[in-house]
Amino acid sequence: MTTKPCTICRGRVQEFHDFGMQPLSDAFRRPGDESQEYLFRLAVGMCLDCTMVQLMEEVDRDKMFHESYPFMSGGSAGMRAHFEGGATRFLENTTGRGDDFVVELGSNDGTMLSHLADAGMHHLGVEPSAGVARLAVEKGVRVLGDFFEEESAVRIRGEHGPATVIYAANTLCHIPYLDSVFAGVNELLAPDGIMVFEDPYFGDIVEKTSFDQIYDEHFYLFSARSVQELARRHGLELVDVERLPVHGGEVRYTLARSGAREVSDAVTVMIAAEERSGLTEPATLEAFSHRVSDIRRDLDAALTELRAQGLTVVGYGATAKSATVLNMCGIGPDLIPRIFDNTPAKQGLLTPGSRIPVVDSADFPDPYPDVAVLFAWNHAREITARETGFLDAGGRWLLYVPRVHEM
Ligand code: SAM
Ligand code: TMP
Ligand code: ZN
Repeated sequence: MTTKPCTICRGRVQEFHDFGMQPLSDAFRRPGDESQEYLFRLAVGMCLDCTMVQLMEEVDRDKMFHESYPFMSGGSAGMRAHFEGGATRFLENTTGRGDDFVVELGSNDGTMLSHLADAGMHHLGVEPSAGVARLAVEKGVRVLGDFFEEESAVRIRGEHGPATVIYAANTLCHIPYLDSVFAGVNELLAPDGIMVFEDPYFGDIVEKTSFDQIYDEHFYLFSARSVQELARRHGLELVDVERLPVHGGEVRYTLARSGAREVSDAVTVMIAAEERSGLTEPATLEAFSHRVSDIRRDLDAALTELRAQGLTVVGYGATAKSATVLNMCGIGPDLIPRIFDNTPAKQGLLTPGSRIPVVDSADFPDPYPDVAVLFAWNHAREITARETGFLDAGGRWLLYVPRVHEM
């Protein structure tokens, strides 16, 4: 297990799990494309000083976020409802002075900002992936096609004035260069403005052994303690935290300029709970790593046994997360011959590394398989509620988080 300098504080990051060589989680391939796939070593560690959990190796951002970035926020009804709720809060809680300006980093297909655009609120999405950004523009959202960092923040401030809210969902944890991002936040944020971001919570990842949240794009796995320290280093303060049920457990962090807002008790409570649970203790991380290895062993054994029984096994949800588990276990089309997914940009392509064909989930019942591995386990309620015919036909859902089991 190696060490490296922390990208936040320059302290020493101690590796605690190595997933081996992995492809980019969203680099779906055309059938017949035999070109060499880009691979990197996916390993995760924790900073012994500021406790920030981070990947040991960084992937160049242009390799991940580009014209054909396939993930779309609007692909799940649950997430559409979540972002509508978030937008409603912004509409109700901003200053109401008429000079509110909401900037969303990683606005993707405009699922959240379209509500603010519809309400006539001054807004801007910042989105480097041009394909999804176009979908947002078609919804009437104003988008800057760029990466948010210090330089673009200065331009935004010059053109639009200060932001009362800077918001980011499932985006900040994707950005290794947070120094530049927070320099940009300091440029752009109004004196009494807030920065709100929500990302997978490391506490949930350890508690549920949801190791598949670890992949190229998820460079950081935040906790309240590490975010508090991150904010402090940039003259900001963590003033509120709120747990969210989406994506297998997230936290919504609210930052303000130091001393500008009262700090909610929820911050102290969450940091104390992290301390009590030993979230940053080496023994906790070691135990997590052992549980990941157990899941790998059990999933391999379960799929091999199902194949020996002659049952048809498929995957459901060609998630970015599935790249970690498929490539970690060396699962290919011999064990899982196809994965169903509702994203047009993924259908007809092969999963990265594992080369499993992705097919339209509308064809799932045609005919139903015996067993479906639910890679989109974070959308389990939505998917199982829609696919009730699968269970009626005798089908079985197989999950691997928090351990290998049938639902
Ligand atoms: N916010 C949406 C959601 O929660 O569904 C999209 C999340 S998606 C996983 C991450 C998005 O962040 C991608 O659309 C990507 O292009 C964008 N992104 C990556 N780096 C960025 C940066 N420096 N500034 C703004 N957006 C960025
Ligand atoms: P996510 O876990 O990163 O949100 O990705 C979910 C993937 O699962 C995405 O590719 C869309 C797919 N999906 C379906 O195919 N059907 C569904 O009902 C849902 C909710 C997601
Ligand atoms: Zn650090």
